[in-house]
Amino acid sequence: MLSKAVRIDRHGGPEELKVVEVEVGEPGPGEIRIRHKAVGLNFIDTYQRTGLYPFQMPLQLGMEASGIVEAVGEGVTHLKAGDRAAYASQPPGAYCELRVMPAKCVCRLPDDISFETGAAMMLKGLTTQYLLKKTLPAEGLQPGDFVLFHAAAGGVGLIACQWAKALGLQLIGTAGSDAKCKLALAHGAAHAINYSTENFAARVKEITGGKGVKVVYDSVGKDTFEGSVDSLRPFGLLAIFGNGSGPVPPVNLGLLASKGSLYVTRPTLFTHIATRESTQAMADDLFAVVQSGAVTIPIEQRYALADVQQAHRDLEARKTTGCTILTL
Ligand SMILES: NC(=O)c1ccc[n+]([C@@H]2O[C@H](COP(=O)([O-])OP(=O)(O)OC[C@H]3O[C@@H](n4cnc5c(N)ncnc54)[C@H](OP(=O)(O)O)[C@@H]3O)[C@@H](O)[C@H]2O)c1
Repeated sequence: MLSKAVRIDRHGGPEELKVVEVEVGEPGPGEIRIRHKAVGLNFIDTYQRTGLYPFQMPLQLGMEASGIVEAVGEGVTHLKAGDRAAYASQPPGAYCELRVMPAKCVCRLPDDISFETGAAMMLKGLTTQYLLKKTLPAEGLQPGDFVLFHAAAGGVGLIACQWAKALGLQLIGTAGSDAKCKLALAHGAAHAINYSTENFAARVKEITGGKGVKVVYDSVGKDTFEGSVDSLRPFGLLAIFGNGSGPVPPVNLGLLASKGSLYVTRPTLFTHIATRESTQAMADDLFAVVQSGAVTIPIEQRYALADVQQAHRDLEARKTTGCTILTL
């Protein structure tokens, strides 16, 4: 069987993304073959394209999609041919119509969640799940607590604004324009700060009555690190989970002592979804919060698979908000 797929032959800019035809075979043990209905676009795809996260070439990109299971290999018991399904998964390869992949991270998609929503929410929603539920300061988070969340109008960001509100947290969101700040507020952020015009750490101190927040969720990295540290209260946790502006350079750990016995972690979704059981438990939590209506998945951009270069350009130029999908 043939499938259109997006591949790079070397790391580089969006111009390296090429639509090609690939041969797709039968699933082996522990694998499925899935025919995609929609594909999710994620910032991590740009790291894999540029080589910030290096891979062997050639590389078929993409970490998130939804579709219909066509065939299952030996030993796969949680899926069968004909099932609606969605996933966030390694290895990359989701930018295509049809693929064979490990079944472990693929979940059945509830009938009342559309394929487009499924494709947009798995990587970003499962990330929000492990951040807000499992990446916590030593004393945990209680309703009413402040948390700081950078890039709050992005894909992960708009899901986090809603989910934090549902948990009773006061999420202070940052974003790069006033329009994006409005969007974060409309999705449940308690406060929004335009960090391209304001000193966000100073504003966080004002909003929290001088105390600072218990946790900063920072996916921007290099540009926000210093302000994130300054936004924390003593014993606070800095969770650096992305490199939107570039990776954080090496730091002197003495800084954590002088700023108040702080904690720093650098988590990744892929540790959290390393087993079938953990993936399903997190997905069930995500499905439930979406089915309850407390979190809606805001798909703000759609691009045809053939326009994937433009999708990458827009994502990297900070032109997108919410989630983006590639249509097939
Ligand atoms: N570790 C994990 O498990 C994990 C999982 C999923 C995602 N992530 C990370 O979470 C972040 C959000 O992912 P996403 O797919 O939802 O992307 P996104 O938030 O929709 O897009 C990235 C956003 O980062 C902000 N940004 C700040 N400085 C930037 C710069 N110099 N260049 C480009 N963007 C910049 C922009 O928002 P403003 O204009 O508002 O600043 C931009 O819209 C990414 O860093 C991603 O790598 C990590």
